[in-house]
Amino acid sequence: MNSNEDKTHIVDRITGHRRMRRIRKTDWQRRMVRENQLSVDDLIWPVFVVPGTNISEPIPAMPGVERMSVDRLVEAARMAADLGIPALATFPNIEMEKRDQTGSEILNPDNLINQATRAVKKAVPEIGMITDVALDPFTSHGHDGILRDGIIVNDETVEHVVKAAIAQAEAGSDIIAPSEMMDGRIGAIRQGLDAHGFQDVGIMSYATKFSSGYYGPYREAISTGGLLKGDKATYYVDPANGTEALRDAALDVEEGADMLMVKPGLPYLDICWRLKEAFSLPVFAYQVSGEYSMLKVAAERGLIDGDRVMMETLLAFKRAGCDGILTYFAVDAAKKLAKA
Ligand code: PBG
Repeated sequence: MNSNEDKTHIVDRITGHRRMRRIRKTDWQRRMVRENQLSVDDLIWPVFVVPGTNISEPIPAMPGVERMSVDRLVEAARMAADLGIPALATFPNIEMEKRDQTGSEILNPDNLINQATRAVKKAVPEIGMITDVALDPFTSHGHDGILRDGIIVNDETVEHVVKAAIAQAEAGSDIIAPSEMMDGRIGAIRQGLDAHGFQDVGIMSYATKFSSGYYGPYREAISTGGLLKGDKATYYVDPANGTEALRDAALDVEEGADMLMVKPGLPYLDICWRLKEAFSLPVFAYQVSGEYSMLKVAAERGLIDGDRVMMETLLAFKRAGCDGILTYFAVDAAKKLAKA
């Protein structure tokens, strides 16, 4: 008996015959125990729109991403729908002369975003359109709200945002996604939409939007980088705060949000998980411009396998409890999933 014991390998003596590698040893075995899967249904594609026709212009800070005129966007929407991507999220890069202190162009029923929504909904009705109501693409100072005496004023901004949401719904937007982080906006938008007969238009709240350095390339994409003075710390969540983020999300849930979003994504996976545990609502992560460009540039320099890291990153969001991801990789990932 003693001699038998002697033959037991030291590893077995430590693990007591529990070996994790049994479930990892072959591809079929790994597939059998795989807990999470990324599907094309998880992907929302954020796109940048510019005035004009037949324009597709590269954004140097976001290699592989282009700003598109509405006609090109319609073609891109067709392609995305054919790949099975459920929805687009549109962001406009409008003429500087149309930007002012209060972002008044957002109220124009025929502004670039509303034109884009109408055109895509007409040509590709099966793809969802998600539109933002933050003022930053429309203001001369790049802030998300109305700036008075150095302060982004909350209540006046919310009034603007509600009107913008109604105009966007009239243009055919399926989901309003307010990203400007004003207090009370979700309830106000819900009331405004309902009062105008848009009970079926959903609200995806940028519930926990952090005051982040990862938005840099986006600001080049919509040309707000040079305009913005100071930062957005007086209205976005402090990156140090998880409990505060949860409280902010709870208010949005109470006010009628249909879906919650966490932004940026990868540095805030803990928040994704906490929101999913706390609320029975769909949770989305926005893998933002800086996250995208870091991976893209590292891949271009041959430092990482771009496709592999892209898929691994997107899967991480699923593991963290997300129901979907807004990602500039949507088309690349959808193509890869289609091939797999
Ligand atoms: C602002 C807004 C931001 C993004 C989308 N809308 C952040 C900002 O500019 O402060 C960032 C998206 C990205 O980085 O991909 N309402």
